[in-house]
Amino acid sequence: MSINSLFAYLEDVYRPVNDIRTDADLKVIGQIPFELCGAYVQNNPNPQFQPEGLYHWFDGDGMIHGLQLQEGKASYRNRYVQTNGYQQEKNAGKAIWKGILNPIDLDSPLAADKDTANTDLISFNGKLLATWWLSGQPYAIDPITLETIGMETFDKSLSVSFAAHPKVDPRTGELVFFGYNPYQQPYLHGGVISKEGRVTSLSSFQCDKPSLFHDIAISENYTIFLDLPMNWDPKKLQEGQRRVRFHKDKPARFGVMPRHDDGTNCQWFELPACYIYHTINAYEEEDAQGNTVVVMTACRIENPLPDCEHSKEPEIPRLFFLRLHPFLYEFRFNLGTGEASQRQLDDYPTEFPRTNDALLGQKQRYSYNPRIAKEPTLLFDGFIKYDLHSGVGEHVSYGPGRIGGETVFVPSANPQSEDDGYVMTFLRDREADQSELVIYNAKQVSDGPVARVLIPRRVPFGFHAEWAPHI
Ligand SMILES: [Fe+2]
Repeated sequence: MSINSLFAYLEDVYRPVNDIRTDADLKVIGQIPFELCGAYVQNNPNPQFQPEGLYHWFDGDGMIHGLQLQEGKASYRNRYVQTNGYQQEKNAGKAIWKGILNPIDLDSPLAADKDTANTDLISFNGKLLATWWLSGQPYAIDPITLETIGMETFDKSLSVSFAAHPKVDPRTGELVFFGYNPYQQPYLHGGVISKEGRVTSLSSFQCDKPSLFHDIAISENYTIFLDLPMNWDPKKLQEGQRRVRFHKDKPARFGVMPRHDDGTNCQWFELPACYIYHTINAYEEEDAQGNTVVVMTACRIENPLPDCEHSKEPEIPRLFFLRLHPFLYEFRFNLGTGEASQRQLDDYPTEFPRTNDALLGQKQRYSYNPRIAKEPTLLFDGFIKYDLHSGVGEHVSYGPGRIGGETVFVPSANPQSEDDGYVMTFLRDREADQSELVIYNAKQVSDGPVARVLIPRRVPFGFHAEWAPHI
């Protein structure tokens, strides 16, 4: 991959695929555990048509790649998320929208941004929801066929936008989400959907500037919002220019809000400037005085735009190559004293962390963090199984020329411990131009995969993955 290429995200392991296919009875090296019954699915940006203007990794239409596992056998399929924007461009036979690196056409009757639903997938109420990083509407996907069911309105109860990275509370079955709008106040809002599938709470927040909000965390009783000093320039947005600046002299703000509050009782904490794409988890504990302390783990980036600290040039082009240096951190927010603190747990860069989702919102021990390769863009050459109590990590390397994705934890059928289960990811072999799904025993990741499912096509390097169990 050339760092000078403006088409870097259309090349090498990012190169889109242009056919929709279904393949049964895939070849397996090793043995797929019989207790695995469901699908490993990943959401990838994959432009339907040749992009107009500059293309960024964040721009492509959402395409889901899925590996169905049942009784030790595997099948593969890929399908586009049939968003309204996808349909409009399909009908036009060409790209209508330009990506985020290009100016906004203020005279266009179309929305400024195309909701591609290309970012995340979450299992909720027997469906998969495909969501978008810039906050749009969730699209419901059949977890077996990967066909789009339609825009998910939660029985017409959803009246606000809905961003990637909602969280399911495994205890209550609620879906906690956030959304944002870079163009007008309130820039940030949150919400809760009951396990029956209706919006039960909404909250909103007046922030100074529209941040690049990307994730939240939940504990048993609280939602943690991240208002970090990497902002869209609101004036420039009005002029049709997407400029992003990182303000290293401004604090990172963390809002801890009772889950069903409307925002009024959100308690804000400040720490030194940083950016966080992804959290791992959060939980509550008590200090010696009986105050509630919310503890959150995440991958923290000290400076997300390191090349432009002293530049007056627009920063967006520097966002082009995501060269991130995120490290594992623990944050503590004391609701009684109002104090916040942070500490670094490891010094190896990782991103796209996952944990055992059955313990989301509760104190847990392990996370599975893809390891950042020494490349011009964000790519993963292995993963680390972290013991968050000690900060010690067990490294797994994929080997030369092999690039992984998000490492999803899938529990055993009757788990006896937190790490009783499997870790899975898609792997791409650059030289062979082929992909596979690798399945590790989560207790013994250093032993190598228990199964390699060979996929008769290349799956591009993409965004977030999920396990969709057969119910
Ligand atoms: Fe993300």
